[in-house]
Order: sequence, then structure tokens, then C-alpha cells
Amino acid sequence: MKTSTIYSCAGCGHSSARWFGRCSRCGSWDSAGVETDRSGAASDTLEIAGLDSAGGPAPRFITDVPELDRVLGGGVVPGSVVLLSGDPGVGKSTLVLQMVDGLLASGAPGLLISGEESLEQISIRARRLGVDAKGLRAAASDSLPAILATAARERPSVLVVDSIQTLRDPQHDPPPGSVVQVRECAAALARFAKASGTAVVMIGHVTKEGTVAGPRTLEHLVDAVLSLEGERSGTFRLLRALKNRFGSCDEAGVFIMEARGLQGVEDPSAMFLADRLAGVPGSIVFPGIEGARPVLIEVQALLASTNLAQPRRVAIGCDARRLALLVAVTTQRVGPVADRDVFVAAAGGLQIREPAADLALCLAMVSSYADRAIGDGTVAVGEVGLAGEIRRVPGIQRRVSEARRLGFTRALVPRGSTVDVAGIDVDEVTDLAEACRRAGCLPAP
Ligand code: TYD
Ligand code: MG
Repeated sequence: MKTSTIYSCAGCGHSSARWFGRCSRCGSWDSAGVETDRSGAASDTLEIAGLDSAGGPAPRFITDVPELDRVLGGGVVPGSVVLLSGDPGVGKSTLVLQMVDGLLASGAPGLLISGEESLEQISIRARRLGVDAKGLRAAASDSLPAILATAARERPSVLVVDSIQTLRDPQHDPPPGSVVQVRECAAALARFAKASGTAVVMIGHVTKEGTVAGPRTLEHLVDAVLSLEGERSGTFRLLRALKNRFGSCDEAGVFIMEARGLQGVEDPSAMFLADRLAGVPGSIVFPGIEGARPVLIEVQALLASTNLAQPRRVAIGCDARRLALLVAVTTQRVGPVADRDVFVAAAGGLQIREPAADLALCLAMVSSYADRAIGDGTVAVGEVGLAGEIRRVPGIQRRVSEARRLGFTRALVPRGSTVDVAGIDVDEVTDLAEACRRAGCLPAP
């Protein structure tokens, strides 16, 4: 096999066939390190086979954490590589500990390696979670060769590495967490997974862009990317598949973080609405879609008088730029909400990303502004355009069905939506002012 030397930047991973004093991509000095290129191997020809001869899939490892199994597409595929990403403190270590515990219960013991916490810390967490600490295999290490050797000896169903940013491969100079280390360690773990049939789950912190190697550099290397999201201060956590070679990306798992770890939520809509107060101005329910599941979320707004020349805009659980746009459109088409301090929030600490929530956000703002409550049985869905027009959104049938299931009696939807749900009034609206009147938060002209 022909090998040649290539140089790669310790800061950003940029590689070049020639040595460089200053990286042409990220501009850092003296960051070039040696990497060996094994491309250009002898031109063996490939054997071609019909796809039907590839054999049936091996049975998956069941983690016994139903929400996780579902997001993965029915458990962990042997030999696959999964990246679990999320902000620090969101609950990644908790989730993998519950997963290793569940694997043990389902008869396919895993192995947990932590480069971040000592064995003692892991066992304190295990006790807190009520996990079977005796049968569970765990170790604390940040050394890639030691981890690979241990996994080869122990032959776990799933090898969990917490986290990829702490691993160190002595073959490479750059420090743990650098792009080169993260990429090389992940690649080595992936090769191990394919060769051994042990699945690898690695945790990756989402980091501020550019500072340390983020999970983005790994996405192409792994079979699935799961992301655990939620406000750290809130109790809800959402698990999504951003990529999944062995299942759909349409599934989402909903958890609440409790004293005894992450508990799956079977009926998220009922959960999110449990604390809702009736008859309060500034509140309306939005039928959202998380993954493949419809989820009802209360949207709240508070518009307060202010003396500030630049009134405040605070968006919790929704995009601040989107809010700015909606404030401008509502001011143009309905009334001067822009003169107030505007606070909006998705109750429960969920993150709303769909433009389909526009109408609910605008109605909540107008309701607070006019101090007129919207009927408690009403949900609203639709994207709001710059002209104040209400645009159609996908999944309307599922959204309205979910609202009906939870006992809502009226749905404001964009004109022209195809909805066929019995037992709920479907009210089609064309523009924002009309929607406000129909919702009862603006007097009829
Ligand atoms: P952790 O799993 O350590 O987060 P990550 O690995 O993503 O950084 O969990 C973080 C938080 O979860 C921690 O601040 C405490 C809280 N927590 C609970 O509320 N209940 C529990 O049972 C556990 C283990 C943690
Ligand atoms: Mg952790």
C-alpha cells in the first residue's frame, strides 16, 4: 500500500499535502502536524453482489428506554455508531447511564466509559437513578487505546463513550478536544464498531463554533446523530434524530428530568397543558409537530407599557428574529404592539422552531395588548407573512386531530387547509386582523 505524508492543522483540521507555517483556513500559526495518508492503495477490483444476498438485519439491542429505542428506530443496530449531542448539563450522561442499565435488563450488557467523571461520580449518579450498580460495567478513562482494548476484551453490546471531546489518542499530538483528536478518535471507534459488531454511542458536547471540535465535524462519520435538547432550568427534554441511517428522522422522544433521572412522557400534550390557567389574556395553544408527533404547546405573551426608547423584546423558546418580524407585522396590520415591552414564551421550556407557530404568537401578543382573553378551547396554527396573510402549513390534519383529542373545540387554521376532523370547529382565516377578531382578542370593526 502506498503511503504519503499529509499535514493537518491542529486547530481546524484543514489538511494539505505540503507543510505549512500558517494555516490557510483558520490562520493559526505552527499548527501543522503530520498525518499519514493511506489513499492510493493497490487497485483491487470489487466483488459485486445482488442486494438481496446481503442477509437480513441482525436483531437490535433494546435499551429499555422506550423513548430512546423509538428515536433510534427500534433499538441500537449492532456495529452502528451513534453520536448523542447536546448542551452541557442537559442530561446526556444521565440518559446513557439509564441506557446501559436498560441494556443490562434486556440481556445485552453494555459498557460505559467516562472520560469526564470518576467511577465514584458515576456510581453516585447510578445510586440516585436507582440503577443496578453491581451488574453494570463502567470505567473511567480518556485513553483511546485503553478503551479499545477493554472493549475488545469485554465484548459489550454497546460501548458508550462520555465524551468524545475528552478522548486522547497518543498517536496524535494535538490536545483532547481539538478537531484532529476528536475526528481521529471517532474514526477509530467507528472502525472498531464495524469490525467487532459492538455498537458505539459517543457523547459530543455542542460547543461554541470554532472554539473546540463540535459534533458537526463528526456527522458524516456516524450512522445516527441524536440531539438532546431543552432548557437546563426547565424539566422537559426532547430527543430528536438529526440523522439516522437505520430509521426515520421523524421520531422525537419527550422526557421530563426528575430526581430519578429522565422519565419518558407518553402524552406530551396533556403534560404541557397541565399547568395552564384558564381565561388569562396573552395565552393560546399552538398545535405543533415534534418529529412525527403532534404536541400541543401553550404560547404566552406579556406586553407591558414601557418608557424605553427601544422597548424590550424577550423570546423564550422561540426565535428572537422571528419575534421581531411578528411584532413588526402585527404593528402594521393590527395595532401598535411595538411600543410595548414584548415578552413571549413557549410554556414548559420547549423550543418552537416552526413558522406554523406565528399565528399563535401574534394572537397571544394581541390578546395581551388588548387585555382580552382568547377562549380556552381555541387553538391556532398558521404561518404569518409580511403582508399579514396567514399561510398554510404542513401536517394540519394531525395537528387538529390532536387538539380535538385533548378536548379543544375550535381551531383557527389558514384558509384552504384540508382538514377533516369531527367534533371541532375548524375556522379558516385569511389574514391576521381577521384572525384576531375571530379569536375574540380584537373587537369586531
Ligand atoms: P447530566 O446527565 O450530567 O448532563 P450532561 O451529561 O448532558 O452534561 O445531567 C445534568 C443535570 O441533570 C444535573 O444538573 C442534575 C440533573 N439531574 C436530575 O435532575 N436528576 C437526576 O436524576 C440526575 C442524574 C441529574
Ligand atoms: Mg455529562
